[in-house]
Amino acid sequence: MKFLLETKNLSIEYKNVNRERTSVTRAVDNVSMGIGEGEIYALAGESGCGKSTLAKAIVKLISPVSGDILFDQKSIYSQSKIEKKEYPLNVQMVFQNPYSSLNPKMKIGDILKEPLDINTKYNKSEKNEMISQVLDDVGLSQSCLSLYPHEFSGGQRQRIAIARALILNPKLLIADEPVSALDASIQAQIINLLKSLRMKRNLAILFISHDMNVIRYLADRVGIMYYGKLVEENHTARIFNNPQAEYTKTLLSSVPSLRR
Ligand SMILES: Nc1ncnc2c1ncn2[C@@H]1O[C@H](COP(=O)(O)OP(=O)(O)OP(=O)(O)O)[C@@H](O)[C@H]1O
Ligand SMILES: [Mg+2]
Repeated sequence: MKFLLETKNLSIEYKNVNRERTSVTRAVDNVSMGIGEGEIYALAGESGCGKSTLAKAIVKLISPVSGDILFDQKSIYSQSKIEKKEYPLNVQMVFQNPYSSLNPKMKIGDILKEPLDINTKYNKSEKNEMISQVLDDVGLSQSCLSLYPHEFSGGQRQRIAIARALILNPKLLIADEPVSALDASIQAQIINLLKSLRMKRNLAILFISHDMNVIRYLADRVGIMYYGKLVEENHTARIFNNPQAEYTKTLLSSVPSLRR
């Protein structure tokens, strides 16, 4: 399979310095995984296993100690000037908490326009057209444009965060626990939205979650992490019907609705 994004033997460490000693946490340990174009890949595993650290490395917020990340078969650490500029447009991230990720002082119209102003040379009417299209895609009405983030519910705010991430037409969206701060009924709406966006835009999604029910419903393939290592990876049905790693079995046996 030709991957859109691939990690190769990726290891990431945090140095913890205090007065007595310096210790090192290996948060991601020799992880090799890949996401195909238009694929939904879920990363699961208990709190602290390294999911967000892996995501942060992919968006270049942190650097690995060893290994590589490839985008379109090319290392993101040896990109040309143009590729370096384009990479953040192709790979966008939405975070768990839509409250803290949207500027409270900006109207939605300006929040969506900002990435276009910074990164593109479209004229005003082209920008308005793109903003209107992305609002439609995430299921928000055009009247939202003149409102501020606090005027929306949590679920709607997450739609706005997704719209902002999609305005530049990325190929990969990283969604780190995008629904865990939301009520169950709203969670389902956002999950369905991600599903429909993948279809509409052939968007690849790296979906980070510890909710195995949501993962079963949404993902094409699943990677299971445990203490920084990718202990198992497979198509979703195989992970759920025939888990191989001991840790995957334990993880699945603790999900109430999956118990047999
Ligand atoms: N900035 C940091 N400095 C030091 N250690 C960190 C830092 N961020 C994370 N860690 C440690 O790295 C490991 C992996 O953390 P990470 O946040 O990637 O886990 P996670 O799988 O996303 O967990 P959660 O499900 O709780 O979000 C943990 O042991 C964590 O304590
Ligand atoms: Mg995390």
